[in-house]
Amino acid sequence: MQIRYFDHAASSWPKPPAVIEAMMQCIEEYGANPGRGSHKLAVRASRTLFEARYNLSRLFNILNPNDISFALNTSMALNQAIKGFLKPGDHVISTSIEHNSVRRPLEYLKNKIGIEITYIKTDEQGLINLKEVQAAMNSQTKLIVCTHGSNLLGSILPVAELAEIAHQRGARILVDAAQTAGTLDIDIQATGIDMLAFPGHKGLLGPQGTGGLYIHPELELEPLIHGGTGSKSEETDMPNVRPDRYEGGTPNTVGIAGLNEGVKFVLNETVRKIHNKEWELTQQLITELLSIPNIRILGPGLNEQRTGIVAFELPHIDASEMSFILDQSFNIAVRAGYHCTPLAHETARTLEGGAVRASVGYLTTVEDIEYLAGAVKEINQHYQR
Ligand SMILES: Cc1ncc(COP(=O)(O)O)c(C=O)c1O
Repeated sequence: MQIRYFDHAASSWPKPPAVIEAMMQCIEEYGANPGRGSHKLAVRASRTLFEARYNLSRLFNILNPNDISFALNTSMALNQAIKGFLKPGDHVISTSIEHNSVRRPLEYLKNKIGIEITYIKTDEQGLINLKEVQAAMNSQTKLIVCTHGSNLLGSILPVAELAEIAHQRGARILVDAAQTAGTLDIDIQATGIDMLAFPGHKGLLGPQGTGGLYIHPELELEPLIHGGTGSKSEETDMPNVRPDRYEGGTPNTVGIAGLNEGVKFVLNETVRKIHNKEWELTQQLITELLSIPNIRILGPGLNEQRTGIVAFELPHIDASEMSFILDQSFNIAVRAGYHCTPLAHETARTLEGGAVRASVGYLTTVEDIEYLAGAVKEINQHYQR
């Protein structure tokens, strides 16, 4: 039975065939260590890393590809940015829809070194009032850190405006692009984003174990990892040169070879086309689901801006049970529970029972949406009896 995959917000699947081929080719033909040798295979591995960095810089309009360092996932990139940037006594502004990958490192620093955090409460749809952000800025505010797209509500935060607010007071902005990289236009130069943490395994269509962090050239972070870089080996400190400073240890060359092809796929299709297609699919899904009495769809309403996430709640059906039945009886993969964001569930008033989250991808079809909506309706009818 065919699987209908609606968990792209966790990891996109399936991947374009070129991603798989590039990974196979890397492991079969040049699985050597990049940057640690000058032999032909090491040079070829280094070239793959260079090419991936170059293509990512085209995607995000970043001037120097070396300002991008690879990480294993968004969480690692966010940890590098947050722990590498903030100092004791700093004040940070964040939001009430953050993923634990932002909230936990912030809370860790609050307990360990005494930073102060203000979480700006968004409305129930996950939209932020910029005046409240402006009012929360003070002389100690060094950073605004926020998600670009909520992984529960599908709402989109105005990162260019937030960057402007930060810069007016000499602060910086870190954007968590876990839900938007590859599916929503991100232009580093036009928006003024200072640090961008992104996954390789979601909208960029690469494999798990890939991600990265863009760091503005003026910013100097404490490295998260200290280790071998293959450069300046005589020094005890991490080298100052980028990206080596933030890339201690052997990288995931095989994964990055795949990521490179995922990014090329996105560049070829264009982010706009991908976003538009995903938006149309979410509109179709919301329209279908709204015919179910008493259903509550979280996040922005019909025809409003959103990412490819549609989370919903039915008052008389437990979210975990719904997702279990969808999986077992209909072969549909969705995600229930708290989606690593209790903050957003509190904002949406779903902290008690959680919600069912369906997220679409570029290869999701209109038939997939009809099938999912039909299954939810059938389960609902069964419970009404
Ligand atoms: C908004 C947001 N931030 C961070 C993460 C963490 O991403 P990763 O699994 O790549 O560490 C996720 C994962 O779903 C997310 O949705």
